[in-house]
Order: sequence, then C-alpha cells, then structure tokens
Amino acid sequence: MWERYITAASTYAHRVDLLFILIALVVGFWLLAAEGMMFWLIFRFRARDGRPTQYITGEEPHLKRWISIPHYIIILCDIVILAGAISVWYQIKQTMPPANPESVVRVIGQQWAWSFQQPGPDGVLDTADDIRTVGELHVVVNNTYHFELLSRDVIHSFAVPAFRLKQDALPGRAIAGWFTPNRVGTYDIQCTQICGIGHAMMAGRIIVETPKDHAAWLLRNSSPAAVPQQAAAAPDETGATTMAEVRR
Ligand code: CUA
Repeated sequence: MWERYITAASTYAHRVDLLFILIALVVGFWLLAAEGMMFWLIFRFRARDGRPTQYITGEEPHLKRWISIPHYIIILCDIVILAGAISVWYQIKQTMPPANPESVVRVIGQQWAWSFQQPGPDGVLDTADDIRTVGELHVVVNNTYHFELLSRDVIHSFAVPAFRLKQDALPGRAIAGWFTPNRVGTYDIQCTQICGIGHAMMAGRIIVETPKDHAAWLLRNSSPAAVPQQAAAAPDETGATTMAEVRR
C-alpha cells in the first residue's frame, strides 16, 4: 500500500515498515487519547462564576486510577513495541542467511566516497580480477549478499533507504552484514553519519539488475587477462568512473 510512496527493494524492508507502522499506531493512539482527554478537561472545568477552585492533589484512590491504569496499559504497549523491535533487529542484524561464496562485497567508506570491491569472474575476493568501483555497486536481484564494511578514516554510516539498510562503518573494524535485493532498479546509497565537510556529497547508487545484465556488466568490467595492474580507469556507459585500483 505505502510502497507506492516509499520504495521497498529488499527482503527485509517490509519488516522494518511493519515495525514503524506498529509504533506509529500504538504511540499515535496514546497521543490522541492523552491530548483529547486534556482538552476535554480544560473545557469541562473551565472558569465559571460562583464555582470555587478545587485543589486536587491526586492522592485519592479514585483519582489515582486515572494515572495508574493507563500507565499499566502503556507498559504493556511498550512490551509489544520492544518485542517487535527485538524480532526485527534479530532477523536483520543478528542472523546471517547463507550466501554464495561469490556474493560478497567489501564496502569502504572514506572522506567522502563509498568504494566497493567485488569478486571478478573467478568468484573470489582479494584476487587480481576483483572489480573495484567508486560510488556505484552492481548486484543481482533476488540474490543474498554478505558485505564487509570498513572505514579508512572516520565513522561513516552505510545506508540504502530502499533496502531499509543502515550500518555504521568504524575505522579499525570490519563489520559484517547482509541484504537480499528483490526489485530491479537503481537506488540511493547515503552516508548517514556526519563525517566532515563533504558528508552531504557522500552519496552513491546501488544498481539491482537481472543475472543477465549483471553478467554483461561483469564482463565489461573485467580485463580478460586479469593483469594485476588493470586497465586505467575507464568511464562506463553511465558516466560513472570504474576505478581500476582503490588505494587501501
Ligand atoms: Cu561519510 Cu557522512
């Protein structure tokens, strides 16, 4: 329903959305109830001639109930929200669904760009035919990826809103995560952690494509001989630069 307005392009996007809706409904109900009650009381007990002001301490049991009963119900609502949040967190952050060995990508944040390293035709990362790109990541639809997130300098945050994916990148740590894109298209990559003057420019694109398109892209971007010094950066048809070598 809401996906018409907010693109969802990964298998766990709808789980995050459902959690947001649950929170909005529960919190929204209590917001309206509390505000409604407050305005009703203001109106009901407004100043009137000949009616003395009552000084209510709120200690009387029949008045105290107005606080304690909603209080218990709200604690119950908190538990519902917490259970939903823990369940979604567990599914996205604590579990690592299996992925093909070649479906790994190293994501590197630095001031101020995202660069990516993916296995080349040999399907193995950290070999001569690896494909390194800047600001652009190509993945296959309906395929689970494991990523390894690094930072070269300061704290960044790798975010793909359409995937509902967000993960901080910390210098000195390799953080593992996963995603399964399930919709062909081009989606934004953002940095969502203030990381210096160029933070706002630290954007990229993730291109989710069919296996056929991906194979063609792989072919276009791998040098036939897989020479260690790959051909110098050549702009592809999208105008983005595919860097042969990213300084590590
Ligand atoms: Cu990197 Cu903000």
